Amino acid sequence: EAKQHFSRELLHWYRRGNRDLPWRKSRDPYRIWVSEIMLQQTRVDTVIPYYERFMAKFPSVQALAEAPEPEVLKCWEGLGYYSRARNLQAGARQVMELHQGQVPDDKTAVAALKGVGPYTSGAIMSIAFNRPEPAVDGNVMRVLSRYFALEDDIAKPATRVKIEKLAAELIPEGAAGDFNQALMELGALVCTPKSPSCLPCPVMEHCEARMEGRETELPIKSKA
Ligand code: ADE
Repeated sequence: EAKQHFSRELLHWYRRGNRDLPWRKSRDPYRIWVSEIMLQQTRVDTVIPYYERFMAKFPSVQALAEAPEPEVLKCWEGLGYYSRARNLQAGARQVMELHQGQVPDDKTAVAALKGVGPYTSGAIMSIAFNRPEPAVDGNVMRVLSRYFALEDDIAKPATRVKIEKLAAELIPEGAAGDFNQALMELGALVCTPKSPSCLPCPVMEHCEARMEGRETELPIKSKA
């Protein structure tokens, strides 16, 4: 059915040719963590040079935990949202104190780190540890709202919860990290907010919004 089609085709599409991004060269959970924090409010092209410099300067949880805070902030200068950098360092210090410097392979422990919300914990658990956890951000809500023609208001917390359940059901066996990144990739490159590129979309054939000609009307988002 539609769900199986979506999961299978999206994963194949991603594996046929995804972008060669620096944080995809490693499964080190620390590197995944840093990348996901940087990518939260900043575009991929902007993040890349910052990510490279940050990893060169602070190559491990321990290096980040032990650095003076002004050096961390200096490395973040220009990225904005500096609380991300402060929280990341606080999180690194938590990992040193509570987990011997190893990012734990445990959803609850990861979600307890400073600055790590449901999206980031899902991204770390799935990409670094291949655990079947959803990683739902605005891009993922848009993609799934369109494919399943969901009328729910994505500004409502209950909608995120509903979409997280759906996203978890869609994860193919043993492929959580690639599948979640495939969803992000589709949202970033194909199923874009204003004018989605449906013709090259790997899941167009069963996309409810596309079938109804409503791809630009969804998702529904109230301006609260
Ligand atoms: N946006 C958020 N996480 C990402 C990732 N892992 N790759 C590309 N874009 C992203």
